[in-house]
Amino acid sequence: MWIFSAFLLVSEVWALPPPCDSEIYCTGEILKQIQTAKLFNDDKHFVDMKLTAAPEVVLGAFQNLTSKFPDGVVPRTELQEFLSTFFEEPGKEFEPWVPPDWRDNPHFLSKIADTTLREWAKQLNGLWKSLGRKLRDDVRIHPELYSSIYTPHPVVVPGGRFRELYYWDSYWVLNGLLLSEMTDTAKGMIQNFLFLVDKYGFVPNGCRIYFERRSQPPFLALMVESFYEATKDHEFIKLALPALEREYNFWMQNRSVSLDLHGTTHVLNRYNVEVGLPRPESFTDDVELAEGLSPDAQEKLWVELKAGAESGWDYTSRWYINSQNQSGGTFKDTRTSAILPADLNALMCRNERVLAYLYRIVGNEEAAKRYDQAVSARIKAIESLLWDPEMGSWFDYNLLSNSRHLSFYPSNLAPLWAQCYSQPSMGERALQYLKASGALKYPNGVPTSLNVSGQQWDMPNAWPPLQHMLIEGLSKLNSTEAKETAFDLTQRWIYTNWRAYVNYDAMFEKYDVNGDGKPGGGGEYEVQLGFGWTNGVAMQLLDQYGDRLMSRATGVSFLLETVLICCILIILLFT
Ligand SMILES: *[C@@H]1O[C@H](CO)[C@@H](O)[C@H](O)[C@H]1NC(C)=O
Ligand SMILES: *[C@@H]1O[C@H](CO)[C@@H](O)[C@H](O)[C@H]1NC(C)=O
Ligand SMILES: *[C@@H]1O[C@H](CO)[C@@H](O)[C@H](O)[C@H]1NC(C)=O
Ligand SMILES: *[C@@H]1O[C@H](CO)[C@@H](O)[C@H](O)[C@H]1NC(C)=O
Ligand SMILES: *[C@@H]1O[C@H](CO)[C@@H](O)[C@H](O)[C@H]1NC(C)=O
Repeated sequence: MWIFSAFLLVSEVWALPPPCDSEIYCTGEILKQIQTAKLFNDDKHFVDMKLTAAPEVVLGAFQNLTSKFPDGVVPRTELQEFLSTFFEEPGKEFEPWVPPDWRDNPHFLSKIADTTLREWAKQLNGLWKSLGRKLRDDVRIHPELYSSIYTPHPVVVPGGRFRELYYWDSYWVLNGLLLSEMTDTAKGMIQNFLFLVDKYGFVPNGCRIYFERRSQPPFLALMVESFYEATKDHEFIKLALPALEREYNFWMQNRSVSLDLHGTTHVLNRYNVEVGLPRPESFTDDVELAEGLSPDAQEKLWVELKAGAESGWDYTSRWYINSQNQSGGTFKDTRTSAILPADLNALMCRNERVLAYLYRIVGNEEAAKRYDQAVSARIKAIESLLWDPEMGSWFDYNLLSNSRHLSFYPSNLAPLWAQCYSQPSMGERALQYLKASGALKYPNGVPTSLNVSGQQWDMPNAWPPLQHMLIEGLSKLNSTEAKETAFDLTQRWIYTNWRAYVNYDAMFEKYDVNGDGKPGGGGEYEVQLGFGWTNGVAMQLLDQYGDRLMSRATGVSFLLETVLICCILIILLFT
């Protein structure tokens, strides 16, 4: 049994903390034996199951069970029996909940000119009812029986295997909820994140204890900004600011790097999770990937995989660095923490700007100035390290080779979205870079990279948040060319989402850039439906461009159809 020998070696040497302290959900023999036996298609299944008895009882019973077998390895049938005695199916932590503030006909629908798209948007609005979740009170009373992290308010979840609240997904979910005029649900979600910052000092990746030592792209301040814009609720800003400040400090203290360049010290951010052991929810994937490595190298790889999960891009060739310290290699070469990502730093810049804006609203000019200065320092750092004057775009920075990775990713243009640059000419140059990159030639969205690696954050997948950030970034430029590119990408994306909805009766987490509505694939699990951020992004684009969008592929095919209809009419007239 290769898995056991490799894993036992590691358990002896690991120095870093485990993903959480639970000896059932994050470390220990039960997790190892059940995941290794592959009783379920997805490793997330087991770690989402509820205990039927106190953890000590379950641990004791398992110890008794293992002692019956000479090698301590419990056979499959006995494992299954053990599971059915001491665990319940996932989902037992929730009770049915339809958001009480859901409404039938939110105002944004009336802005959509195309009647087919308007009818579809109405159905998207209806999907919130199926994605609402409320935790049973038992999770608060008996947290030891669950891997769920208790939060006080009901939520809207992404969907599919993502059955709990997630961090960065929620930004687009929340913007969709606000368009659906569901402000109470939106507020409750933000309150949950504030609660999590109070508890952990940052927002975990999702509401499960096995996520409690890693975060995700920090969008909480932007959620508060969206909420304020929709409600003008000053009091809520006052309530939120201490947690926003605390989260910001976490990123600056625990996820930053200082670099000296020509006598100036720049501070930029990275993803970094110094936690050993495989991810409990993808346990066998992580063990199998680390097979054959030295214990030390295994632990390093697991640290980098967790940083990759923290980035939200799990997984991608974007994080590969080979033995020559250059971009490239294979999955085992994932080195997320050695990269200063363009999008994370743009997002931090937006956080700084939003914090200044929120402090100014509540009249704290001194704190606002502090964040103005942080924005200036961030722009200098981004322009010194991430901007490439020859290529005319921003890029990720490799800390091992001290150089930029010049491959295309939509995230390269995140400083456009964050408006985090000092010269307007940089924005127009970035547009020319985008047009020359080859990334705009796909009919169904902008690909996540130009590299087909088999990973889900690579070619041929297109992801809703990346489309949205790119479109919003382009729409903020002044040139007609930029604005038309933004609209063209919107039209392609909305057509893709709508086409897939018609074909499959579903909204997917990602799409194939060449699939004409086919969902994306690759990576560690089957494509998921639901889907929170997809619905949120579609609603935002329908709201913004609803007067022009059409439920057909492109302007070109519209033109062709018109010409065809005219020809038929002419033929009919003359026969
Ligand atoms: C484990 O075995 C001991 C000795 O047979 C027994 O007393 C104890 O109740 C068992 N524990 C569990 C949880 O079954
Ligand atoms: C951040 O780093 C500090 C100092 O290294 C450490 O004490 C603290 O626990 C870390 N915070 C979190 C939330 O991990
Ligand atoms: C890669 O980077 C590390 C850290 O900077 C350095 O120690 C190592 O020598 C580099 N390897 C190569 C092949 O350049
Ligand atoms: C692209 O993916 C292949 C594996 O399919 C890999 O060998 C290559 O190095 C990758 N390129 C980059 C830039 O990551
Ligand atoms: C767009 O034009 C306005 C008004 O002329 C100007 O203030 C702003 O800086 C321009 N923005 C960009 C990104 O070029």
